[in-house]
Amino acid sequence: MAEFPKLRLRRLRKPNLRKIFRETRLTPENFIVPIFVDENIKSKKPIESMPGYYRIPVEGAVKEVEECLELGLGNFIVFGIPSYKDEVGSSAFDSDGVIQKTLRKLKSEFPDVVVVTDVCLCEYTTHGHCGVVKDGEVLNDETLPILGKTAVSHAECGADIVAPSGMMDGMVAAIRKALDDSGFTDIPIMSYAAKYASSFYSPFREAAESGYKFGDRKGYQMDIHNSDEAMREIELDIKEGADIIMVKPALPYLDIIRRAKEKFGYPLAAYNVSGEYSMVKAAIERGWLGEDVVYEILVSIRRAGADLIITYHAKEVVEKLQ
Ligand code: PBG
Repeated sequence: MAEFPKLRLRRLRKPNLRKIFRETRLTPENFIVPIFVDENIKSKKPIESMPGYYRIPVEGAVKEVEECLELGLGNFIVFGIPSYKDEVGSSAFDSDGVIQKTLRKLKSEFPDVVVVTDVCLCEYTTHGHCGVVKDGEVLNDETLPILGKTAVSHAECGADIVAPSGMMDGMVAAIRKALDDSGFTDIPIMSYAAKYASSFYSPFREAAESGYKFGDRKGYQMDIHNSDEAMREIELDIKEGADIIMVKPALPYLDIIRRAKEKFGYPLAAYNVSGEYSMVKAAIERGWLGEDVVYEILVSIRRAGADLIITYHAKEVVEKLQ
């Protein structure tokens, strides 16, 4: 390797040259747009803690997707706010539930868009936990059949990918088996494999009304101090049949994204979560940071190794990608 002054790395940083040598690119296909569908409202409703983001009624989902398609965004993940909740989250697998209705509408209107569904119970249970609760404990094995049923009901309504997010052990295997037994052998599973017990989810809990009534999620989501454990979580999910692995949150966990990509070489999604969005929006609103930080953050997540980014910033950033 040459040395200075023969070597001058600045030579390739001229405006017309540096574009050629970009190692990381962001395209609209790299994004998944989250949509919050609320069965209880008639018109779209702002989410206070997520400036610029809304809950939309079931009827509004088509228009939302249409707008995104015009911007070149064709991948979505839908979250539901149901009209009823109970102890075991029955509205999660109700054939006439909020996600099921939304899926039928979207897939009949736009057969080619990609619709991912979040397979979890916290939006559908009265206690707000991601599984069945007994004596204050979230029960793992009792939750698995409900997740299987929910995934099958999503597949029946046209989901392209199901994404279990509840961090129950064995959830991927249970869902794979349930899907296969119902003939959905070709529906991929995107597993929230390394999902941390993070404080960055709090705006989402307002958005999806999925806050818990007692305790916390540390009994099932990962300890923020751990990295080796994330590799074990991911390995387990791959062995159980995950097609895409996910790391969540994204920005504070870029090390995990990089490590997972290098170790497994698997299709990898990163979830740029609600709190990451809100803190950036708050700083931009105050004029403390410029809007360019959004692009920089998303590039950093790609550069770390994510193929896909679930992000609330997709619509605002997509125009700047050229
Ligand atoms: C459901 C779920 C959550 C998020 C995605 N799916 C909430 C949680 O685990 O408490 C959070 C996403 C975000 O903060 O943007 N289990």
